[in-house]
Amino acid sequence: MARQILTAVAWPYANGPRHIGHVAGFGVPSDVFSRYHRLAGNNVLMVSGTDEHGTPILVQADQEGVTPRELADRYNRVIAEDLQQLGLTYDLFTRTTTRNHYAVVQEMFRTLHRNGYMIERTTKGAISPSTGRTLPDRYIEGTCPICGYDGARGDQCDNCGNQLDADALINPKSRINGEVPSFVETEQFFLDLPALADALGAWLQTRKDWRPNVLKFSLNLIDDLKPRAMSRDIDWGVPIPLPGWEDNPSKRLYVWFDAVIGYLSASIEWARRTGDADAWRAWWCDPAAESYYFMGKDNVTFHSQIWPAELLGYDGKGAHGGSPGDFGELQLPSEVVSSEFLTMEGRKFSSSRSVVIYVRDFLSRYSPDSLRYYLTAAGPESNDTDFTWSEFVRRNNDELVAAWGNLVNRSLSFTAKNLGSLPAAGELTDIDHALLDATNGAFATVGADLERSRMRAALSETMRVVAEANKYLSEQAPWKLRESEPERMATILHVALQAVSDCTTMLAPFLPHTSQQVHELLGRDGVLAPQPELREVDDLDGGPGYPVLAGDYESTVRWRRDPLKVGNPVAPPTPLFAKLDVSVVDEELARMSGE
Ligand code: MF3
Ligand code: ZN
Repeated sequence: MARQILTAVAWPYANGPRHIGHVAGFGVPSDVFSRYHRLAGNNVLMVSGTDEHGTPILVQADQEGVTPRELADRYNRVIAEDLQQLGLTYDLFTRTTTRNHYAVVQEMFRTLHRNGYMIERTTKGAISPSTGRTLPDRYIEGTCPICGYDGARGDQCDNCGNQLDADALINPKSRINGEVPSFVETEQFFLDLPALADALGAWLQTRKDWRPNVLKFSLNLIDDLKPRAMSRDIDWGVPIPLPGWEDNPSKRLYVWFDAVIGYLSASIEWARRTGDADAWRAWWCDPAAESYYFMGKDNVTFHSQIWPAELLGYDGKGAHGGSPGDFGELQLPSEVVSSEFLTMEGRKFSSSRSVVIYVRDFLSRYSPDSLRYYLTAAGPESNDTDFTWSEFVRRNNDELVAAWGNLVNRSLSFTAKNLGSLPAAGELTDIDHALLDATNGAFATVGADLERSRMRAALSETMRVVAEANKYLSEQAPWKLRESEPERMATILHVALQAVSDCTTMLAPFLPHTSQQVHELLGRDGVLAPQPELREVDDLDGGPGYPVLAGDYESTVRWRRDPLKVGNPVAPPTPLFAKLDVSVVDEELARMSGE
C-alpha cells in the first residue's frame, strides 16, 4: 500500500541569499528523501517556503534601507530561484506572508488559547536606551547563565542549546550598537510548555529511530520546560487574533510561532491550489501518515519541542485538556531529521567576512548535480563537516567523472559505435550474474538506507555498485572481442548497460539532472527525475501575487530494475560531468579572500 509521506523542509529566512551550508542542512537531504519515496510509489507532499517575519527580516530591512515587505519580496524570489536551480522538488514552496498562512496561524492560536495553553503574562522586555525602540532578544548578546558561553543570544544559547530569557543573560549588550539594554514590563502570550511536558515526553519516548544526537538533545529539553513567549513587541508579523490585541500595531506573534505552522498552512495552500481543498488531510489527520522534518541542528528545539507542543495543545492533549479546532486532530512529527553544521575551509560561514559561497554563485560555475553529490557524500549528515574546494574538485573528478561518468560513457559510446542499439544477452556466465545480482540487490539496501535518512550510506553503497560495474567492464573487456566473439561482446554490453540502467535509477534522487539524461540515452519510458517549476501565482485570498515552486512529479518509473529495451537505438553520449582543473582550488580560495 502506498504510504502518505509529508516531507516538511525548514523555511529559510528571506533576509538574504542562501549559502551552501543552508542547503546542505535542509535542502538536498529532503529532496533526496522525497525523490526516493516518489520512486518507491509513495504519496509524497513536500512543502516549505520563505520565513518572512521577525527580527531577522526587520534588522536586514533596516540595513538595506527598504521596508520588511520589500526585503521579503526580494529574497523570497532569489531563494525560490536558487532552490529551483538545485532541482529541489517542492510540491509547494510558498511564503509566510500569504493571507492563507495568516488565517491558519490565527486558527492555531485561537484554539491553543481556547484550550488554555496560551497564557498572558507580564514579562521584562528589552529596549534600546538610545532609540527607545524595543530590542529583540535575538539582538542581545551576553554570557549564558547555564554554560558560561559568552556569545549567547537573548533567545537561545548556541553552545548548550538552551532557550534563554534575555534578562537572564550575564552582561547583556545590544548587538546593534553595543549599548546595555534596559528592561521594562510588557504583556505577552506564553505557550504553557509545563502543561504539555508529560504529553511531549510520552510522545518523544515513542520516537526510537531518530538520529541519536537529535533524540538525545530533544529528550534533554523536556527536563526543564518553562512557559515560552509567543508574542513580541514588534510591528511585523501575524496579528494576535483576540479582542484588544488584534488592532494593536505593536504586538505580533513571535516568528517561530508562525513559521512552524507554515508546514500546515503550505499543505493547505497546496490542497486549495489543486482544487481539492481537503487533500492536505491525508498527510495531517490520518494516524498512519508519516511526516519527516528536515533542518540544520540549530532548528531542532523548535521542531522537537515547540511545534509538537503547539500541535498537542491544538489537539487538546495536555494537562489542561481541550478539544481540537477546525482542522481536527493533527498528527505530530514522525521524525525530526536534523543535520549538523557545515564549515567552510575550516571556518564558520559568515557573509560579512566573505567566508561564504552562495548557492547562486556556486551554480554559476559548477553543476547542480556536482554540488548535490558533494553535500551528500561529504556533508554534515551526522557530524560537523568542512567544505573544502580541494575535496570538491577531488570528488567531482574521481567519483563523478572517473567512476560514474566513465562507466556511462564507455558502455554507451562503445555500444553506439559498434552496435548502434541496445544488445540482447546471450547465455550468462556466473560473473554476469554476479554483477546483475549486485545491482538488482542494491535497490533493497540503498532503499533501506534512504528510508532511515542515511543519505550518505545510500550514496556510497550505490557508488560501490558503480565501481563493481566498472571493474566488470574492464575485466570482461568487450573491446577485445569485437572480431573474435561478437556474441559474447554483446552479452557483456547488455549486462553492463543493465547495470548502468539500475544505477541510474538509484542515483536519480541524488543526481536528478544527469540521471534523467542517462534515462533518455537508454530510451527508457516515463520521467525518472522531474524538476520543479517557478510559477507566478495569485494569492488565494486577495493579497499580492508571488512566485512559488511547484511541479508535476507523478511518474510511472519505479524504484526497481527496468529491463533494458533491447533493440532501442543508442547514440554516442556527451560527457555527463565536466572534469575540473586543479587550478579551480586556488581561484576559489582567492575569490574568498577577496583578491
Ligand atoms: N527560518 C529559520 C532558519 O532559517 C527556519 C525556520 S523553519 C520553520 O533558521 F519551519 F520553522 F519555519
Ligand atoms: Zn549555554
